[in-house]
Amino acid sequence: MAQAPDLSVRIAGVPLKNPVMTASGTFGYGREFSLLVDLNRLGGIVVKGLSLEPSRGNPPPRIAETPCGMLNAIGLENVGIEAFAAEKLPYLQTLSTPVWVNIYGKSVEAYARLAERIQEIEGIAGVEVNISCPNVKSGGVAFGVDPQAAHAVIRAVRERTDLPLMAKLSPNVTDITVIARSVVEAGADAVSLINTLTGMAVDVENRRSRIANITGGLSGPAIRPVAVRMVWQAAQAVDVPIVGIGGILTASDALEFLIAGASAVQVGTANFVNPRATLDIIDGIEAYLVRHRFTSLTDVIGSLQW
Ligand SMILES: Cc1cc2nc3c(=O)[nH]c(=O)nc-3n(C[C@H](O)[C@H](O)[C@H](O)COP(=O)(O)O)c2cc1C
Repeated sequence: MAQAPDLSVRIAGVPLKNPVMTASGTFGYGREFSLLVDLNRLGGIVVKGLSLEPSRGNPPPRIAETPCGMLNAIGLENVGIEAFAAEKLPYLQTLSTPVWVNIYGKSVEAYARLAERIQEIEGIAGVEVNISCPNVKSGGVAFGVDPQAAHAVIRAVRERTDLPLMAKLSPNVTDITVIARSVVEAGADAVSLINTLTGMAVDVENRRSRIANITGGLSGPAIRPVAVRMVWQAAQAVDVPIVGIGGILTASDALEFLIAGASAVQVGTANFVNPRATLDIIDGIEAYLVRHRFTSLTDVIGSLQW
């Protein structure tokens, strides 16, 4: 039998056994899925977005199903960095899969303090910085939609940690390449994209938004063509590895991102539909490589013909 193809990749210097990671906020802190998914098979686990203090998030309803996707306004509910380190991380450390911590703050200082704290904690492979969070000091405009604000956040984190750093970009911008260049210039070792697209759905019977926060983040297959386009654009603009996210349900969906220039992918909303989606995607990518006689995934990355 021919040798199995090589699925390994490196993201921000972190070796992954395959390119399939979980997307923040859709896979809890990992352990929740351990009865359904062999977590050691994953390329990487990105945990729920963490803040300095615990957060209860937004009031319900905070999820609404939409055509080919969903809106969410969870509001970044999480246990906070201290409870994560004490209660969640010890289990994750028993795995062979690299654990990425996703962080957010409402000010540059909050991101900086989190980075400082994370630097002291053992067992974290890398940091993914969610810059889609509203900046309280600029009237709630998200850091990730302004190149200067995005730069300031990534630079502040970079100055306080030497852990591998991945900047997670917001798609709610006119030109993704401007933001991608800005975060790389500030010291990001990789970029992941996309976070959710801002959306809204109205219940016409009671004339209320279907989620209490009024607007929410759209995810799922509905956003995939936008995400693939942005990954392709970002791949032309920067030299660091790109992690593609957005509506990936199957291996073929993941391959769209890899061919467009992503070195790895994250699976989000699919985990709610099929908790074993990540494993099916890994198997499907391997089968694709065999079928096309590729010996290594690196032959596929960025192989788009045009
Ligand atoms: C319920 C839910 C919670 C999320 N929480 C976070 C989060 O805490 N931090 C973050 O960076 N992204 C968060 N996201 C965004 C996802 O990680 C991902 O970028 C987005 O959903 C697009 O991928 P998908 O279409 O595969 O879900 C969340 C998404 C959903 C649906």
